[in-house]
Amino acid sequence: MSGFGSQFAPIVIRADFIDGSWSRPLAVASDKLELHPASHVLHYASSCFEGLKAFRRADGAVHLFRPDMHIQRLQNSARHLCLPVPDAEMVMAMLKQVVTDQMALIPEFPGALYLRPLLYASDVNIGSAGHASNNAVLLVMASPVGDYFGGQDKTLRLMIETEHARTTSDFGQVKSGGNYAAALQHIVRARRDHQCDQVLFCPAGDVQETGAANFFLLHDDTLITKHLDGSILPGVTRDSLLQVAADLGLQVAQRQLTVTELLHKAPHSEAFLSGTAAVITAVGTLISDGQMVVVGDGGVGGTTRKLRETLLAIQSGNGTDHRDWLVDCGHG
Ligand SMILES: Cc1ncc(COP(=O)(O)O)c(C=O)c1O
Repeated sequence: MSGFGSQFAPIVIRADFIDGSWSRPLAVASDKLELHPASHVLHYASSCFEGLKAFRRADGAVHLFRPDMHIQRLQNSARHLCLPVPDAEMVMAMLKQVVTDQMALIPEFPGALYLRPLLYASDVNIGSAGHASNNAVLLVMASPVGDYFGGQDKTLRLMIETEHARTTSDFGQVKSGGNYAAALQHIVRARRDHQCDQVLFCPAGDVQETGAANFFLLHDDTLITKHLDGSILPGVTRDSLLQVAADLGLQVAQRQLTVTELLHKAPHSEAFLSGTAAVITAVGTLISDGQMVVVGDGGVGGTTRKLRETLLAIQSGNGTDHRDWLVDCGHG
């Protein structure tokens, strides 16, 4: 299977917001989208998206992982962007529809069907920068993704960026393309100039998150990650890991972490990133002001592995889903 996110189901499920209400969602061809060049979204970045997975269990049962949380986050993003907020029931039905239509495309675990809801403003008016769009489109795309865990012994090299923020103190919670666009130049520079895999955004020394994942430090059996204050994305994997960590007997601390504390603790800690795509990816090295700091022994820590295995067991159906995180989509 080719790289993550480059192969698509032949259909998307689409609903249009016109004259104050949503049309009935329909399956349409996934490889074409008609968009007037004056569409609000193309000029004023009025769009948001989500990313979640449907997993196939060994017995053929297919489940979505925590779709309710992803739908709430999509609704929150829509509110921040003055986009029409889609009903949770409609989005859930669209997610289930694309999964049941495309059952045959879902790879064996740990592969999955990655679902990408996309909401954008479609008013045709380039004079409307200061107005909410009256029309919008919601699409749910589906992309079969392979085993992200072939590289589970890989560790990342992160560049600590203290001068530039990823986004604003309030918009980090919004999953919108503008945030990724704002962060990109820093990520490209870190890769080019410092051979880093990603940037850890720490404006004014406040350790926030990377360009596309939440950040965790594990020190003395305490799992530390930034509290949700609007500046970072409330990751679904982040929330799941905090609960799984407590089950495993770890202390969890959602609080401010400074770069000074991070660099001081890193040599005696584990660190990792969390997100839907890879669940957990260990951090081996931090680059700060041109200096290299190795996290622990530079490899994947034992607790990092344990957390990943525990969450994967729930997603695969091999572990107990006692919090009802899996939502049934039938068999196939
Ligand atoms: C900026 C950012 N932070 C965190 C995450 C992790 O979120 P989740 O665990 O819901 O995939 C993502 C990925 O979607 C992201 O793009």
